[in-house]
Amino acid sequence: AVQTDGLFVCGTNAFNPLCANYTRDTLELVGEPVSGMARCPYDPRHANVAVFADGSLFTGTVTDFLAIDAVIYRSLGDSPALRTVKHDSKWFREPFFVSAVEYGPHIYFFFREMAMEFHHLEKVMVSRVARVCKADLGGSQRVLEKQWTTFLKARLNCSVPGDSHFYFNLLHATSNIIHMQGRDVILGLFSTPPNSIPGSAVCVFDMQQLAHVFEGRFKEQKSPESIWTPVPDEAVPKPRPGGCAIQGSKFSTSTTLPDEVLNFVKTHPLMDETVPLLGHRPWVVKTMGRYQLTAMVVDTEAGPHKNRTVLFLGSTRGTILKFLMIPNGDLASHNSVFLEEVEGFNPDKCGEDSPQARQLLSLSLDRTSHTLLLAFPSCLVRVPTSRCHLHTRCMKSCLASRDPYCGWTRGSTCSFLRPGTRELRRRKRKELEELTSEGHHALKQGQTQEAVHRFRGSVEH
Ligand SMILES: *[C@@H]1O[C@H](CO)[C@@H](O)[C@H](O)[C@H]1NC(C)=O
Ligand SMILES: *[C@@H]1O[C@H](CO)[C@@H](O)[C@H](O)[C@H]1NC(C)=O
Ligand SMILES: *[C@@H]1O[C@H](CO)[C@@H](O)[C@H](O)[C@H]1NC(C)=O
Repeated sequence: AVQTDGLFVCGTNAFNPLCANYTRDTLELVGEPVSGMARCPYDPRHANVAVFADGSLFTGTVTDFLAIDAVIYRSLGDSPALRTVKHDSKWFREPFFVSAVEYGPHIYFFFREMAMEFHHLEKVMVSRVARVCKADLGGSQRVLEKQWTTFLKARLNCSVPGDSHFYFNLLHATSNIIHMQGRDVILGLFSTPPNSIPGSAVCVFDMQQLAHVFEGRFKEQKSPESIWTPVPDEAVPKPRPGGCAIQGSKFSTSTTLPDEVLNFVKTHPLMDETVPLLGHRPWVVKTMGRYQLTAMVVDTEAGPHKNRTVLFLGSTRGTILKFLMIPNGDLASHNSVFLEEVEGFNPDKCGEDSPQARQLLSLSLDRTSHTLLLAFPSCLVRVPTSRCHLHTRCMKSCLASRDPYCGWTRGSTCSFLRPGTRELRRRKRKELEELTSEGHHALKQGQTQEAVHRFRGSVEH
């Protein structure tokens, strides 16, 4: 995790997790290493997310060798250390943490876990967002001492409408919080479970709508046999459980909250409503034979005017799929255009080619060098964000590529447009964009790739 003055680095250290501070530029060790327990897992395969906020480190991971005790933990800084309730399946059931972000007075954690709210015998995985207040001081000596009093969670709804609503239940990655057309949004990359029709989707959530779900009704199961139902308003104690303590109010710290409120939040961490997806449908849907999409980075400053949005999605085959997002009037309805699929795995650098070697561990964007950084188990690969030279043959194919990073420039070549570059033939491009409205229409019916290929073919020939 990055702090202003250095790096706080944690590692599994051969099943004995440790953390230490390092200087930012020279990566020199500062002080003595400390235990990494609850900040870092024992096994690198287990989940680990972390964010610094208000001088404290907020982590989502597991605290034991067998990965049974999952935790959201706050440590370092001046606030007391706090954790989630141990071994309580209402709080967590086999979670896998995906990301943590600071937003307003809260830290939000995105993860997937086994659902507890369905009346099914088989296990169903769902995706969730949980939040805690940064200023939480824990409960009273009787209830929730040294534990969060503001932990709440809700299901994320990434689905395709239809006769039988189709859900993408497994969250793999999120973007940062992005400011787009006056709203704060977060993008999530989801897939179907391994034993289902292979498919991946990018769903977008409005942070305001997301926060609103935590103001709604709580969900409960009255007895182990009964189904989960919303808690009636009159059964919810006051002040509202799970809220951040307000300075100067009757309960200015969480430690003074009535036991009734603390007991309620301890036994009702799940919200009734799901977090709705923006526009009621995913921005990108990809159903395909053999592989899934598990990594994502978003460039919201693509193109010479830094005003286009490009998604880079990493697949389980070690390739990167690139999509251009086209706003359609308002933010709620975007169209996506598939641009290209790029090979990321490089056998020269990464050694022997195998499905395991091609598992992408992380994907990040380096804006200054206009490249993507791909981490595989045995190598790090740098891939350019665009390959404009492939279209150098003719102007039509350069423009028809629709790649916002590329343009037809002086000297009659298709080249990368640095921010501020002047592009020739803008009118021509505009005409071509109008031509693609046919492509857009087909897109809406879920034929992304065919439509784009068909259109490309018709331009090139
Ligand atoms: C590392 O730095 C943080 C923040 O400055 C501090 O709270 C923490 O105690 C330091 N840890 C170690 C092991 O030196
Ligand atoms: C998910 O969202 C869709 C469309 O917005 C809605 O029809 C569906 O009921 C929601 N599902 C759940 C479980 O909330
Ligand atoms: C991006 O900015 C340029 C220059 O201001 C403008 O001409 C263009 O229409 C903008 N594109 C989009 C997609 O907003």
